[in-house]
Amino acid sequence: MPRYEVAEDLSEGVKDLSRARQSLIEEFEAMMFYDERADATKDKDLRSVMEHNRDDEKEHAVLLMEWIRRHDKKMDKELQEILFSKKEMKVLGD
Ligand SMILES: [Fe+2]
Repeated sequence: MPRYEVAEDLSEGVKDLSRARQSLIEEFEAMMFYDERADATKDKDLRSVMEHNRDDEKEHAVLLMEWIRRHDKKMDKELQEILFSKKEMKVLGD
């Protein structure tokens, strides 16, 4: 899993965070694949299957986000401050 450092130099916590973050990237990538395939096909039934699969990936992504939130205090703080906020986007992150 390590991409820039040798595994022996990394803690188990960093390794697990990398595993979860890489998996999150892959869930979003899968959503993009299914979105494109659903959009491109002319077959209504195949589109339905693609959309169903894409939406399953959303649950997978959120489960990973929750695991990351529980294991990354700064990410937890950012999510608490930004997600579901009613503030305008331009003021978030200031
Ligand atoms: Fe998935």
